[in-house]
Amino acid sequence: RLLIIDFGSQVTQLIARRLRELNVYCEIHPYNRVDDAFLQAFAPKAVIFSGGPASVYWDNAPMPPKGVFDMGVPILGICYGQQVMMQCLGGHVEGGHGTAEFGKAFVTPTALTHPFLAGWFPPEAGPLAQEQVWMSHGDHVSKIAPGFNVYGTSPNAPFAITADPTRHFYAVQFHPEVHHTPKGAQLYENFVRLAGFKGDWTMGAYREEAIRKIREQVGDAKVICGLSGGVDSSVAAVLIHEAIGDQLTCVFVDHGLLRLGEAEQVLSMFRDTYNIPLIHADESDLFLGALEGVSDPEVKRKTIGRLFIDVFQKHATAVGGAKFLAQGTLYPDVIESVSFSGGPSVTIKSHHNVGGLPEKMGLKLVEPLRELFKDEVRALGRELGLPDSFIGRHPFPGPGLAIRCPGEITTEKLDILRRADAVYIDQIRKHGLYDEIWQAFAAILPMKTVGVMGDGRTYDYALALRAVTSVDGMTADYYPFTHDFLGETATRIINEVKGINRVFYDCTSKPPGTIELE
Ligand code: XMP
Repeated sequence: RLLIIDFGSQVTQLIARRLRELNVYCEIHPYNRVDDAFLQAFAPKAVIFSGGPASVYWDNAPMPPKGVFDMGVPILGICYGQQVMMQCLGGHVEGGHGTAEFGKAFVTPTALTHPFLAGWFPPEAGPLAQEQVWMSHGDHVSKIAPGFNVYGTSPNAPFAITADPTRHFYAVQFHPEVHHTPKGAQLYENFVRLAGFKGDWTMGAYREEAIRKIREQVGDAKVICGLSGGVDSSVAAVLIHEAIGDQLTCVFVDHGLLRLGEAEQVLSMFRDTYNIPLIHADESDLFLGALEGVSDPEVKRKTIGRLFIDVFQKHATAVGGAKFLAQGTLYPDVIESVSFSGGPSVTIKSHHNVGGLPEKMGLKLVEPLRELFKDEVRALGRELGLPDSFIGRHPFPGPGLAIRCPGEITTEKLDILRRADAVYIDQIRKHGLYDEIWQAFAAILPMKTVGVMGDGRTYDYALALRAVTSVDGMTADYYPFTHDFLGETATRIINEVKGINRVFYDCTSKPPGTIELE
């Protein structure tokens, strides 16, 4: 197995993802929990140092354990990982004015070659060969450590690609794990091949490992699982049920912020198809009461998060003292909610699964999908035998329609939104577009506008339609519907849904927008 030592980069999980795509098993551990004893016990076959926001010149700059360089295993350092490797092995790093480089850059080869660069710099390109990479660094390496050679340079990073071929230490200044380094995956592939990985790890193995970890964490305690009916919590529930059987009870909280007919669909699927013990907690009065008059998005999210926990705690007691709460939290939920200590990762939204949890919650968390991206959860769901029609469902956020109703939430607005959303999704399905789109939904805007229908004046709500394509929800492009589709959909919604007299299409990508409106 491969060990990733995390120095706090925003994209460390993308390294893990690239490795899973290569069918290599890896684990991420933060640098401050990896010491020499840990290394001995873990016995990695190879190690990767992630990037990170620090400078090697900071007081208490994050460092790898000394012994890592003496284990005789290949090491790959990325960005800060490269700098720290050079600093430890006798090279030099420079910081300060003029050394920073952010965004796209081009790396050209030197006269040397190495199998680590297989697939890069095709010989037919001759001296003009170059590869696009994505840089994001403040400091840079100014002198490489003894034993290292330079294999690629960029204008601002003379040591963009370096390696010590004898010790199998590889170090790059850029981030090969991101999409903007188009041939980055190839470098990971070259690295794991050089390290001797066969690439025989699968989602089936992930399932076995996840089940083992759940059993180890939970023992014979009872677990309740917050089931939203979305793909994530459903996959988590089926996985945990497979691990611990009827120690698990699912709680489906109906917060009054679900879509049309959703509660009935979820209940029938889990009770009839999966036979997993399920409590239907109809708490719409509680949630809608607490949200009355609230229009600030963060207050909404935190209120909903807090009430979810109250409700879960109530049911944890009711099932005979559950000690754990299971959630389908995914990696993008974590990275967008949690700021690394000293890191640049700021809180964009308090995703309710993560941000709304009170410090001293009486339940411990079981989050078996915490390291996965959405498409990986879908692959795991398939592995667990969930039907394709269910796995393909668009994501639906925990706070539900609350964050699709900017401004104050009222039952009238929710009712209009539910009906309009159902027409919109029906249109998308009828036109065969559902599976091409990552997520589509309607949002009711906090304004009324004037219209004319028949011979009468209307003064009704405006609706925003949103549809995006995405790989992992971290970035997204708006979906390019045809004008005919948009026109037909707007007409249907206005004709069929009383209370809407105007429809907008949201053409914002992420960034700068987020997928949800709040
Ligand atoms: P944003 O709006 O942050 O959303 O671009 C990215 C993805 O996450 C979903 N989302 C949530 N999921 N709890 C969830 O379970 C939340 O609080 C939450 N907020 C956003 C969103 O629907 C999109 O798929």
